[in-house]
Amino acid sequence: LVAGSFTATAQTFPSRPITMVVPFAPGGPTDIVARIAAERMSQTLGQQVVVENVAGAAGTTGAARVARAAPDGYTILMGPMSTMSFSPALYPRLAFNPLTDFEPVGIVASAPIMLVANKNLPGKTLADFAAHLKANTASINNGNAGVGSTSHLSCALLNARMGVTPTLVPYRGTGPALQDVVAGQIGYLCDQVTSLMGQVQAGAVQPLAVLAPTRSPVLPNVPTATEAGMAGVDMVVWNAIFAPKGTPAEIVTALNQAIAKAIDDPSARDRFLQLGAEAPAAAQRSPQALGQIHAADVAKWGDVIRAANIKVE
Ligand code: MLT
Repeated sequence: LVAGSFTATAQTFPSRPITMVVPFAPGGPTDIVARIAAERMSQTLGQQVVVENVAGAAGTTGAARVARAAPDGYTILMGPMSTMSFSPALYPRLAFNPLTDFEPVGIVASAPIMLVANKNLPGKTLADFAAHLKANTASINNGNAGVGSTSHLSCALLNARMGVTPTLVPYRGTGPALQDVVAGQIGYLCDQVTSLMGQVQAGAVQPLAVLAPTRSPVLPNVPTATEAGMAGVDMVVWNAIFAPKGTPAEIVTALNQAIAKAIDDPSARDRFLQLGAEAPAAAQRSPQALGQIHAADVAKWGDVIRAANIKVE
């Protein structure tokens, strides 16, 4: 009876609005990618995909909510690489297991991390900025989206490389952290280029380095960290949809197809291009590909976190 009712449910899916949980505040990269996808997935699915921001504890509060939701496709997660891959190595009492409590659905976009600083801070190159930071660490704060976010881990690796231990200021997402970099309460931030482009183009923050193997096509004049003399701190971040474990395969397929249509939509492609984000290549679009990439990243970043001895304080 239970199996029969699941099949019937899968055939009529979706028959009501879907909630897409974003585990960070509005205005950050996870939120931006979610809203681009949700709007277009709504058109394909014929039901509203409503973005709900459930921020806290570097995304783990929102992810835990989805892990416990009914496995019916009506509550899904926009899961960033950070929350889904860093948290097991950082949180000893994590309320969910990112690898076993979810069905992978599909990657929506990936983007490199970039370091941006308040525009009044001296140091036009990464080396000059590092020297200024070393001499003024006590007065320059580093914002992030909580211990275990990409903004935290990427800047933690960079801070170690620069030899500085600034005060880390956690936010509910990098959207509000970026506003404080613009305003000057926060000196610098490492975040996906996706949410930084607007303020960089407005001249409101200074971009210092892209933490990726290659320069970003939208910011060809910004060097990579390796070019700027600080190798070993690269981080390219995916944002992907996950559903609660046990969600029927037909529903996972319907959601995966809606993601594919959304990211192939020319207006979404243009938006991603402008923001420096990239839709996944054909071979990386399936739920299985996400499952493999996710498992590899849990292992890879777990090793990085343990080697760097980064802990939740
Ligand atoms: C992160 O730092 O992991 C995310 O960029 C946070 C966010 O999307 O706001």
